[in-house]
Amino acid sequence: MHNNPIGIFDSGVGGITILNSIKEIMPNEDIIYFSDNLNSPYGQKSEEEIKNLSKKNSNWLLDRGCKIIVVACNTATTNSISFLRANLNVPFIGVEPAIKPAATNTKTGSVGVLATKGTLSSGLFNMTSNDYCSEINIIETVGEGLVDLIENGIIEGNKLEVLLHKFLKPMLNTNIDHLVLGCTHYPLIIESIRKIIPNNIKILDSGTAVAKQTKSILSQHDLLNNKKGSNSKFYCNSTNTTLKKILGTKYQIETI
Ligand code: DGL
Repeated sequence: MHNNPIGIFDSGVGGITILNSIKEIMPNEDIIYFSDNLNSPYGQKSEEEIKNLSKKNSNWLLDRGCKIIVVACNTATTNSISFLRANLNVPFIGVEPAIKPAATNTKTGSVGVLATKGTLSSGLFNMTSNDYCSEINIIETVGEGLVDLIENGIIEGNKLEVLLHKFLKPMLNTNIDHLVLGCTHYPLIIESIRKIIPNNIKILDSGTAVAKQTKSILSQHDLLNNKKGSNSKFYCNSTNTTLKKILGTKYQIETI
């Protein structure tokens, strides 16, 4: 089992930011990446719909022999990770907005979180927020429309910057010193975000933490790969144009 692949899924290309962090610290692991872009975005869907899609994606990865599943989507994690763990017999790693480190390190006491509606309204996010951020001013903003733009291949330019400006400018007026990117798609547009957010504000994503957690759980289960070299396979269930753009020509993408 230890030489079986790691399965990763997202509603689209966002999970590639998690995959990159995983590859960085575990270069010998095989990976199967599934982009459920037919059903993207997840952000406005109900908890029930997200649970069903997440279970379907996980079963698809399990059918391909995955030894662990990384839910590389904040929206899917915060709405379905307990359900997945209760229903499927494989270790699951999820991704949640990095509000704990932001709350620990803030000096101004004000932290911005940009995420989907599904993440910000979830029980899991609100529980973490109540546990760790009750003394902190958390400015939560729904990045409505961002995932759509990114899935359509728009990862820079005026249209994107106008939308980002609308979401981020009000946060700056509240003296935030950390901005949490609570959606795995958002690190793909970091350059446009940086044009609006000054350098003294720390931007946090969860990629490295998720990769470390994945490695730690694989190690605990004695599932780390012991061969040299790796093989990554990419699948999506709608157009592969944006995935191709993000990955470059090095990888083949199969549309299922
Ligand atoms: N990458 C997903 C996340 O982290 C995007 C959600 C969506 O499809 O709206 O939340």
